Amino acid sequence: MKNIWKALPRPILILAPMANVTDSAFRQTVIRYGKPSLFFTEFVSADGLCSAGKDKLLPDFYFSESERPIVAQIFGANLETMRQAAKLVAQLGFDGVDINMGCPDRAVEKQGAGAALMKNPLLARDLILAAREGAPELPISIKTRLGYKNVDFEKWLPKILEARPAAVTIHGRTREEMSKVPARWEEIARARELIKKNDPTIAVIGNGDVATLSDAKQKSETYGLDGAMIGRAALGNPWFFSEQSQAPALKEKLEALLFHAELFDRLFRGKKNFLNMRKHAAAYVAGSIGAKELRMRLLGASTLEELRRVIVEALNISI
Ligand SMILES: Cc1cc2nc3c(=O)[nH]c(=O)nc-3n(C[C@H](O)[C@H](O)[C@H](O)COP(=O)(O)O)c2cc1C
Repeated sequence: MKNIWKALPRPILILAPMANVTDSAFRQTVIRYGKPSLFFTEFVSADGLCSAGKDKLLPDFYFSESERPIVAQIFGANLETMRQAAKLVAQLGFDGVDINMGCPDRAVEKQGAGAALMKNPLLARDLILAAREGAPELPISIKTRLGYKNVDFEKWLPKILEARPAAVTIHGRTREEMSKVPARWEEIARARELIKKNDPTIAVIGNGDVATLSDAKQKSETYGLDGAMIGRAALGNPWFFSEQSQAPALKEKLEALLFHAELFDRLFRGKKNFLNMRKHAAAYVAGSIGAKELRMRLLGASTLEELRRVIVEALNISI
């Protein structure tokens, strides 16, 4: 088995899975400026991948060779669909399978998936085993939190570790905290202790509130982790993994947004909603002085052509 979690140099710096954000268009835009050690896809439903509506979900699993190494993230609570979904992930050529065990979304939790799995560690363990059955050649990892209501990973994590995941990513908050309190890296370090005592070969990744590339490296080092995962700080900031320390000028941001939007349209026209680009557009210009009106105009664009017009006009004015 080719285990990327063992092979990658430390610290492993990862672009977090973010639904409707980290698709192939965004990942390829990130690569233009600076590539992380590892990519994750957005999460995709295991049940959905085994249903008649499967084809609608496949664009979420599209990737180009330049994005390797790349892990596919799945959510689900059914052993059979997890097994089949993992098999599909292997067939699609991914470098690993990750099971989401931290998502607080009600629709996800209602199925017993995502964060609800912290309350059902036996099932969580068996889901890892099922995924391994479906994709024996791929490393199976999980992404979870410090606990559901309280920080109590000691209670449920050991049961999950019985299935020997290749890596565990810990988001340093509980389910109840959502993203409202600062991430607790000291607690991530305690979880790391527990995991490494159980099996030192399991890679442990910290996640939550990483602000810059040097922050990611420093936190990995300080807390003895194999790496760090970065989510929101990369939104509207495909420069995150480059060594560039200063925020780019508005002109550069708009050029990157245009590249990103054109790629999105080329890859996903008719397959993914172009309105996904709105969140990106707002994030690219957030914090740029005097960009309030531009932001409103970008948000008003519902097709590539409209967005391009707004950007080209703004670039002409500012040149
Ligand atoms: C818009 C958005 C979508 C997300 N989608 C997923 C997802 O599909 N799978 C997942 O495991 N986590 C998802 N997350 C959580 C992030 O991966 C990450 O754990 C969280 O944002 C904390 O990291 P950060 O502080 O670096 O953003 C999402 C977060 C955001 C903001």
